[in-house]
Amino acid sequence: MKAFSLAAVCLSALVIVGCGGNDDAPAQPQVIAHRGASGYLPEHTLGGYELAIRMGVDFIEPDLQISKDGSLVSIHDDTLQRTTNVASLFAQRNGGYKVADFTLAEIKSLTVLPTGTGKTSYPGFTPSAADPFKVPTFQEVVGFAQAQSASTRRRVGLYPEAKQADPVMEDGILKTLAQNNYGPQSKVFIQSFSDATLRSMRAKQVAQNNKIPLIQLGVAVTGKDGVASVGVISGASVTVLPLKDVASFSEGVGLLINNTTYPITKDYISQAHAAGLTVHGWTFAQADAMLAAAEYRKYLDMGMDGMFANYPDLGVGARDAFVKR
Ligand code: G3P
Ligand code: CA
Repeated sequence: MKAFSLAAVCLSALVIVGCGGNDDAPAQPQVIAHRGASGYLPEHTLGGYELAIRMGVDFIEPDLQISKDGSLVSIHDDTLQRTTNVASLFAQRNGGYKVADFTLAEIKSLTVLPTGTGKTSYPGFTPSAADPFKVPTFQEVVGFAQAQSASTRRRVGLYPEAKQADPVMEDGILKTLAQNNYGPQSKVFIQSFSDATLRSMRAKQVAQNNKIPLIQLGVAVTGKDGVASVGVISGASVTVLPLKDVASFSEGVGLLINNTTYPITKDYISQAHAAGLTVHGWTFAQADAMLAAAEYRKYLDMGMDGMFANYPDLGVGARDAFVKR
């Protein structure tokens, strides 16, 4: 597995938080805050990221969209409607509320609302941000991760997802990370469902001499011959990529869990590791503590290297119990 066999060149300089390093050595499975602490607080907000960090996650995950004026903002959907109060403040544009139809200033006027099991507060937790439930820019998330790394003295990793297959997205992610001193040794992964996006980013990274690790999202395909590959989802179709091909432009795979058509198995993970790929799984969304512990344990026992968690405390608890064992 490649993940976090990374040199700890910056361990003695934690304040230079963009600078590389694996302050979690020796390697252990990583817990990624899926959209923040999205099971508890409004998703993709500084308040949600902070609660997840407080709960001990290794990474926070900003999903990224592009505003009308070209800013990268942290929000999952390509529309503002599901997660914000946009409909109470603005009329529809082009028949809806696409992020791409609103300027950053307009998006900043919105409040992110809780969804699913989320609420507007969490017992015993007061966010440090003055306005913790706004849509943050990618740069704000990076700055927040760095500030939290310094204040907690525990490096907070970043796991941005390019939600649009768009050169503006590619360049924005690479530029923002480079400007904040992230490099190949940093605690950072860039993820995408689009292999075209990742191949393009890898080419740009090679030209820029800054190969930040990339993760191909998809499903675990195992052929009749038992050979593992990655199913790249695009709409209703799944394109199958050999592991060797995926390893030629990325460092790992992020796989859909609990899918009966594309089950993740111990053998699948072993084959991915043999190809030099780290294996992460999404989404660990079980809210019941006992059921969640069993679900995490199942995938950890298979050798999974990282888990996207809606309930970060349950993910961290399960990981810690597994490591202690
Ligand atoms: O990025 C991994 C996982 O988050 C993919 O699902 O839809 O929550 O971005 P989604
Ligand atoms: Ca995501």
